[in-house]
Amino acid sequence: MAISSHIPSGTVTADLYFFQPPTDGVTPFQYVDAPPEGQPQRNFGFDTHAVPIHDARGQESSFNLDNDAVGIIQDVPPSAEKDFTDDDSIKANYYPELEELLLQHVPGSTKVVFFDHTIRRAHPDAHRAPVTRVHVDQTATSAAIRVRKHLPADEAERLLAGRYRIVNVWRPLNKNPVESFPLAFARSSTLRDEDVIPIEHRYNNGYTGQTAGIRFNEGQQWWYLSGMTGNERLLLECFDSEALKDGSTVKGGRVAHTAFEDPRTRADAEGRESIEVRALVFGP
Ligand code: OGA
Ligand code: FE
Repeated sequence: MAISSHIPSGTVTADLYFFQPPTDGVTPFQYVDAPPEGQPQRNFGFDTHAVPIHDARGQESSFNLDNDAVGIIQDVPPSAEKDFTDDDSIKANYYPELEELLLQHVPGSTKVVFFDHTIRRAHPDAHRAPVTRVHVDQTATSAAIRVRKHLPADEAERLLAGRYRIVNVWRPLNKNPVESFPLAFARSSTLRDEDVIPIEHRYNNGYTGQTAGIRFNEGQQWWYLSGMTGNERLLLECFDSEALKDGSTVKGGRVAHTAFEDPRTRADAEGRESIEVRALVFGP
């Protein structure tokens, strides 16, 4: 029996949780951690749809950042970072590898600035678990805020006049191919602007960012990469200033994505572990 025979593959229909606007028409918000007293965690709901999710395995190279806001990179050499438990070690060992990877795979890029990473483990006491809500991490507003927050003022203004993107580099940390809670993503060219709704993303330190919730639409084309391994990387492009320009042919820049519960996953499957590193990518 092949070692990976129990790993689900091929097209699957699974429930995805889409954005449902607050009924009272107020600005949608969510707290990242425990909300202040008297406030709900979030003021909007979810709209569940059973959606066909196609398997990108064997079609990896059909994804393109400028069209789909997705890139799949394979055969990445082992990382110098082994444990992925210590933030400083991750920054020292893993970030430089990703800088090289991004400069190589993001067309026209000349500069990379990392601003965040998140490790997810599926066990109950993990700090962050897989996210089963369809979203985009940033909006045009929060992308510009990020540039100003992480770069010196004069450089930020100069860079904001050129092309700037936000790209997450996502990889599993499991020793075995991913069997549970894989990541689904929609080709950006199949997502309508009107289905992308800004949500205030409130941190307890007072910082408020903006993410986007996604309304369901039949035209969205959903994918995942079955049995993803630690020598593969998913590039999730959350923002691209080029896509906003009048007459631009770039359709990338807003990859709707979500973890999903695959109904084919064995009950005793290993929990998915992953790291996503978020980067500002500049140029040309
Ligand atoms: C991300 C993300 C969710 C997950 O990488 O931006 O939303 O479950 N990840 O890994
Ligand atoms: Fe995300």
